[in-house]
Amino acid sequence: MNHFHYMNGEMYCEEVPLKKIADEVGTPFYVYSAATFKKHFEDFEASFKEVPHIICFAVKANSNLAVLNLLGKLGCGADIVSGGELYRALKAGIDSKKIVYAGVGKTEEEIEFALKSDILMFNIESLQELEKINEVAKRLNKKARIALRVNPNVDPKTHPYISTGLKKNKFGIPIEKAYQEYEYAASLSNIEVVGAHCHIGSQLTDVSPFVDATKIMVELVKNLKDKGIEIKYLDLGGGLGIKYKDETPPSPKEYADKLIDVIKGLDVTLVFEPGRVIAGNAGALVTKVLYTKDTELKSFKIVDAAMNDLMRPTLYGSYHEIKPVKEGNYKNVYGDIVGPICETGDFLAKDRDIPDFQQGDLVAVMSAGAYGFTMSSNYNSRPRVPEILVNKDKYYIVRRRETYDDLIGLECIPEDL
Ligand code: LLP
Repeated sequence: MNHFHYMNGEMYCEEVPLKKIADEVGTPFYVYSAATFKKHFEDFEASFKEVPHIICFAVKANSNLAVLNLLGKLGCGADIVSGGELYRALKAGIDSKKIVYAGVGKTEEEIEFALKSDILMFNIESLQELEKINEVAKRLNKKARIALRVNPNVDPKTHPYISTGLKKNKFGIPIEKAYQEYEYAASLSNIEVVGAHCHIGSQLTDVSPFVDATKIMVELVKNLKDKGIEIKYLDLGGGLGIKYKDETPPSPKEYADKLIDVIKGLDVTLVFEPGRVIAGNAGALVTKVLYTKDTELKSFKIVDAAMNDLMRPTLYGSYHEIKPVKEGNYKNVYGDIVGPICETGDFLAKDRDIPDFQQGDLVAVMSAGAYGFTMSSNYNSRPRVPEILVNKDKYYIVRRRETYDDLIGLECIPEDL
């Protein structure tokens, strides 16, 4: 579901024509729909309304301050993985009591920052991390609320780079060791065990791996209770997939119904960390065709956005739908949409039928609201593109385009070199 649509022959985001933004802001740019963000959050929220729950948006999917602020105002929390994400979430006004912190490599400074911010809980990924958090909490004379991130060894059947809950992945504590480590955690002076966490992967389009992992977690929570360790929060991570092309992921309601069924009778507050399902289809990357070039094998459409702006196609072979901003009778050609970067991997679409765009045409790369801007870089010294947030008939530049001065602003030439 999203609020990108055609009207009078051109593509709009809500009530704003994309061409108007392109004329006023230039290309390329990311554009997000506030209404889509709201709708996705509210659908997820409503799906779990019959059970106590907290939704913590995965900040890594889209960390723009305005987006986080919008979600925070709706009551959303944050799932963070770094001090930088914590800083953003707090600056955006997200309630610290709704912030959960995962990640295998939390530094001492980051732990201190999170403890001082009084976040809901740390999702701990190793014994050494647990000991470090206890040590920092002791120094600060605080108690750290924690969950152990358990690796349930369930195959999420997704791309190997975004599968996280298998034995061979670096994440979490193996389920076999969980009991022992929970007992150890409970014995530490400055640790308060409050939760259990798992996250098995991203872009899951089948509900069964979620159900399998949840069954394992429910069993764990029950057994811990028998051992006198009370779990208040069961955090089931994120991972619900979206439609990029022809996937048929379960709706939040179908996902919720299946999980609620498994959890029935357990006295816990559920925590969810959705990223993509909230943000993915709320955004597009709009770019302009600079040149076209036809070869014997295929047609190349060279656009002003590149792999540094949207890494997903080259990194995971991901498919993003390509649409013309001006609705027209484009015939399709076989070819690639490529950027100006000096790498063969620089493509936004590859070896597929694409509209036969001409020089100057505007192109919308769809479903780019999650892991789009957040994974962008300055490779080839390309200033990062602006982010635009549309709300009804208004648009806001919620991150301006970087300048050449921004590119070199943090660098210096030593005088005595
Ligand atoms: N919680 C944890 C602990 C995670 O590691 C992740 C994603 C999420 C929640 C959110 O997952 P989501 O609901 O968005 O699937 N860059 C990749 C995705 C990497 C996901 C990493 N972890 C992509 O562009 O597909």
